[in-house]
Amino acid sequence: MIDFLTDSGTSAMSSNQWAGIMQGDESYAGSKSWERMESSIHELTGLPFVFPTHQGRAGERILYGYLGGEGKTFISNTHFDTTRANIEFSGAEAIDIPISEGTIPSLIHPFKGNMDLVKLEDLIKLKGAENIGGVILTVTNNSGGGQPVSMANAKGVSDICKKYNVNYFLDCCRIAENSYFVKHREKGFENHTYKQIAQEMFFLTDGAIMSAKKDALVNMGGFLALKNKELAEACKNLLIITEGFTTYGGLSGRDMEAIAIGLEEIFDANYLHYRIKSTAYLGERLHKMGIPLIMPIGGHAVYIDAKALYPHIPVEQYPGQALVCELYLTGGIRSVEIGSVMFGKYDEKGKLVPASMELVRLAIPRRVYTQSHIEFVVEVFEKLFENRKNVSGCMIIEEPKFLRHFTAKFNTVS
Ligand SMILES: Cc1ncc(COP(=O)(O)O)c(C=O)c1O
Repeated sequence: MIDFLTDSGTSAMSSNQWAGIMQGDESYAGSKSWERMESSIHELTGLPFVFPTHQGRAGERILYGYLGGEGKTFISNTHFDTTRANIEFSGAEAIDIPISEGTIPSLIHPFKGNMDLVKLEDLIKLKGAENIGGVILTVTNNSGGGQPVSMANAKGVSDICKKYNVNYFLDCCRIAENSYFVKHREKGFENHTYKQIAQEMFFLTDGAIMSAKKDALVNMGGFLALKNKELAEACKNLLIITEGFTTYGGLSGRDMEAIAIGLEEIFDANYLHYRIKSTAYLGERLHKMGIPLIMPIGGHAVYIDAKALYPHIPVEQYPGQALVCELYLTGGIRSVEIGSVMFGKYDEKGKLVPASMELVRLAIPRRVYTQSHIEFVVEVFEKLFENRKNVSGCMIIEEPKFLRHFTAKFNTVS
């Protein structure tokens, strides 16, 4: 009934975007729709080389596949699951270094998505700058609770990367939501527009990957934008081999029209205010009820601390997955585990190395749900909270090697 599985590709497109779709230019080369999309990305990012991709992970595969491989290391505030999978699939390693405040769910901090700058410099020295495939700042930090990154932190990352001549990329799929938090929480940005804040953040980077399914308000699409010509040439060839020609890269002309329009709509001050406040509304209602959450509430989702809600379920029995099932069975609400199902590993003896947090994400699609839907969700949580001591954990009965949470199968532990 209520689909909080993801905010990716689930936005309602505006009448303007639908009108743009009717005008899509489907020429293989030289499409006007591509020119519109490219110029809106140039204007926003200031990056000279832009490639369309069918979604975010296609850009990840091209860029991180090229820069990765055995012996390479990527460093991030938190790699998103597909980012990590693309890096590890290439043979490289992916290391997360969020600030320590970012891993304590109940702790209040304005920018819990920040990267630990001391650890960043230490890691670059330890691994050797020539072995760093790239440093990736994810804004907002999806796997770390949808928490924002400050401009000061982005500048700090950029300075360190410049000092060691290491590539610095932005995973910018929620750049507008991040800009909202910078304007309202960081000194010196009160009088900037949201778009100016985003432009300043892009200016610091060597490139950016966007899954347009989030802050470009479309159901499908993405892009890769780069500063360096040689790197762009290498990525261009990979794009043509696997995605499509440089003027569509896996997208239809109509999709590109909708992205160009969405990238403008997303910075509308009224929209962003509604978006961030309505997410916070759900979070604050659950917080008042006593549901343990990541605080403060992030931009696109409310994250429940399942380990704190179900302290009787050990991490080996995946408390987050148990909550996901409860939500669906009790209220028809879909959600997703962001904990040891998603990020857990096994050691040499096959013992689970758990994730740092056991979260459940209620991701809110953009421009879709009304307040009465949210009230219904709150009522379902009231029932869940009452019954919390009777819930059992889960065990995995089938799992693939990469991205296991997409297709793993579970049973209840009796
Ligand atoms: C932070 C982040 N990066 C990358 C991606 C991958 O994008 P896509 O699903 O379009 O491949 C996602 C998708 O949810 C994301 O949230």
